[in-house]
Amino acid sequence: MKLTPALLSVFLLAGPALAQSKDKIMVGVVGSLTGAEATFGQSTRRGVELAIEEVNAKGGWKGRMLEAKSYDDQGKPEEAATATTRLIAQDKVAIVLGEVASSRSLAMAPIAEANKVPMITPSSTNPRVTKDGGKVRNWVFRVCFIDPFQGTVMAKFARETLKLKNVAILRDVGNDYSMGLSDFFTDKFKALGGTIVADESYKAGDQDFKAQLTSIKGKKPEAIYTPGYYTDIGLIARQARELNINQPLLGGDGWDSSKLYEIGGSALEGYYFSNHYSTDDPSPAIQNFIKTYKAKYKETPDAIAALGYDALMIFVDALNRAGKTEGEALRRALASTKGFKGVTGVVTIDADHNAVKPAVVLKISGKKPQYAATIKP
Ligand code: PHE
Repeated sequence: MKLTPALLSVFLLAGPALAQSKDKIMVGVVGSLTGAEATFGQSTRRGVELAIEEVNAKGGWKGRMLEAKSYDDQGKPEEAATATTRLIAQDKVAIVLGEVASSRSLAMAPIAEANKVPMITPSSTNPRVTKDGGKVRNWVFRVCFIDPFQGTVMAKFARETLKLKNVAILRDVGNDYSMGLSDFFTDKFKALGGTIVADESYKAGDQDFKAQLTSIKGKKPEAIYTPGYYTDIGLIARQARELNINQPLLGGDGWDSSKLYEIGGSALEGYYFSNHYSTDDPSPAIQNFIKTYKAKYKETPDAIAALGYDALMIFVDALNRAGKTEGEALRRALASTKGFKGVTGVVTIDADHNAVKPAVVLKISGKKPQYAATIKP
């Protein structure tokens, strides 16, 4: 074969490109890109990809480019588990990022643990995700606060700020997050001298909540604490108004989605929920993030997007300290994350692999979440 100039240029182009693809660092992302919680997965992916773009623009990690590989679990724990196995076995990822929903992260965690591949959930808040049966999962971390704290936040806000005495609970029975958070809220609210006058349940995907809401209404609560996910909450809010329930609904981070306002509309006015950050926060870290995110995706980032971004940056911070993309060195670097300045706050990973951070309470007004309060751990 004669090396013509044209052929030579093909080799020259292919050479470095091939070397680069071999040295890529694969980042696995598992999320619900479709289904009733589609914005959860989409926001995570967008946050992670924005972070990757910024890291790569600065030359990657030691010259190696990062690349995301995302799978849609359709909101199903079994699919989240399958995706995790595939990311590890087939795509050879250095890290698994996900899931948002605690029930799905709970299905993924044992797989990361068994394969000794680190997993960071950006936004799952149920304590069992990182610590099961009193034992910390070595390879599983999170960059958000946990529900014993989040439940306390809303209980304190309801009791001390809103001065409520009688509150009802409406929980999603098939959802580890909703069940845990309902219990943590109940414990704290009672400890503060409040009374839980009703405790009703539903299942994600239900369309009719009127039986539960009617029964709750009969107990005359001053508010209803309903920590579920946005699609169900949008419907619950509308049906509560149809039944002339004028007391506010209170919730947790699972409400956070632009879709909540599309589904619930003006029924949501005056309701409160706890969350990981507020877009009203003037801090430069938050405002810069919002600006670059909006430029890329033409929408305001929710907390999940910000946490996805932080999770990727914390992974890179750990790579820097570990000097390696795998093994015990990386695991230990993640576990010793300290004072990392993220968009959603300063992250220090504690002994149980959780981040200890403040929470915000948001009030829905004008079909938008508006900052109401910050509650510190
Ligand atoms: N914390 C929720 C869970 O564990 C998930 C979530 C986080 C939803 C942030 C919305 C915003 O299931």
